[in-house]
Amino acid sequence: MSEGLVSAAYIVAAVLFIMSLAGLSKQETAQNGCYSGVAGMAIALIATILNPSVGGVIFILIAMAIGATIGVKLAKKVEMTEMPELVAILHSFVGLAAVLVGYNSYIDHPALTGAMKNIHLVEVFLGVFIGAVTFTGSIVAFAKLRGLINSAALALPHRHKMNLAALLVSGYLLVSFVNAGGSTGALIVMTLIAFIFGYHLVASIGGADMPVVVSMLNSYSGWAAAAAGFMLSNDLLIVTGALVGSSGAILSYIMCRAMNRSFISVIAGGFGSDVVATGDEEQGEHVATTAVEVADLLTSSQRVIITPGYGMAVAQAQYPVFEITQKLRAKGIDVRFGIHPVAGRLPGHMNVLLAEAKVPYDIVLEMDEINEDFSDTDTVLVIGANDTVNPAAKEPGSPIAGMPILEVWNAKNVIVFKRGMATGYAGVQNPLFFKDNTQMLFGDAKESVEDILKAI
Ligand code: TAP
Repeated sequence: MSEGLVSAAYIVAAVLFIMSLAGLSKQETAQNGCYSGVAGMAIALIATILNPSVGGVIFILIAMAIGATIGVKLAKKVEMTEMPELVAILHSFVGLAAVLVGYNSYIDHPALTGAMKNIHLVEVFLGVFIGAVTFTGSIVAFAKLRGLINSAALALPHRHKMNLAALLVSGYLLVSFVNAGGSTGALIVMTLIAFIFGYHLVASIGGADMPVVVSMLNSYSGWAAAAAGFMLSNDLLIVTGALVGSSGAILSYIMCRAMNRSFISVIAGGFGSDVVATGDEEQGEHVATTAVEVADLLTSSQRVIITPGYGMAVAQAQYPVFEITQKLRAKGIDVRFGIHPVAGRLPGHMNVLLAEAKVPYDIVLEMDEINEDFSDTDTVLVIGANDTVNPAAKEPGSPIAGMPILEVWNAKNVIVFKRGMATGYAGVQNPLFFKDNTQMLFGDAKESVEDILKAI
């Protein structure tokens, strides 16, 4: 394949990536968006392998075969609820790849002089820095999402000063690295600082802000890839990295707005959010109910709203939930769904599950569209949701303070489906469970919903 053909293939791949992003922005076109992305990546890989300047094709093919086998195995096994963890760990690979490309490009590069040499050194330094921050940050995000470490914010004393110091020292090391025409010592010290900085940055962010962290790391991984593209003089990697970097940044911004968080505060490792310790102690008496009682309550209601959350996904309760919806609607009862922007573990999680169960789109409403209607509602079924319906968000000092929530307690009756009195993802106790108009239906959400279905 000639150089010219490789460049042409790269342009086609870049256009397909842009079409992919455009397609993914709407539910109806998302599938075609995926196909464009796959086609773009296939063209990019083939063109890269056949590039005349690339040697050792056999090694690349062996590495790809091993990687693809592991990837397909893992992707088949992973549950929908584990998707963000998978994304987080994949970001860590991108970060580590950028670090390795950086070191490789530092050790082995064409002879350069003057400004070109300085530019190359800056590329190496920044590529390794961004890659190292992304690597450890993504590992912490993975561990938090998987529950391997506590999801609460680390909140070390003087944490912002430590972050600032890490940045200043890295800036100083960059200057001395370039002035010395390259210095292995400076590069290694900066890499260690960046590893610790990435770890601390994400560890300082509380569980409730994790959705933003995942999309922010997505953005970082894009910039790390773009930096690797500069080092390898690969235009397609620069374009692709910039697309991922900017779309991740836009997504983080949109999510921050949806959760009423300051973008700067989140990306600076919880800067300005001096949150008090979380509390999981119970705040009163809760009242338990039974499936038969809930069935009676539902059939005597006129308006019902269902607010699903992570627990519905774990229990895979969306199918019987839709069956209840159909039964109640057949009785002339108005049933709608209220979806919080960060319900579940990934953006659009609940919408995907409900679409899978064939719930019609027109009865699935966003939080802002339905929040006013709770006071007019007879019964709300909170199925496996917790943080997204937690009135503690209205109290300053709470780890979820300021986050908009579904105001379910304004309804006449609230039924909360969960297995016990455990807290939600953010680790904050929920005063909703102790309100006079709330009753708890304990058990696995799917079993509870099926029992109600039988009773109806
Ligand atoms: P959560 O606050 O995570 O609460 C889920 C609830 O489901 C828990 O109270 C749990 O209680 C219950 N549950 C778990 N398994 C269950 C089962 N099999 N049957 C019945 N109940 C079950 O849920 P949420 O309201 O959807 O809030 C989402 C949280 O995740 C937010 O804090 C959000 O910031 C965070 N987050 C979101 C995303 C995105 S982008 N959506 C990504 C990462 C993190 P029991 O254990 O007592 O059953």
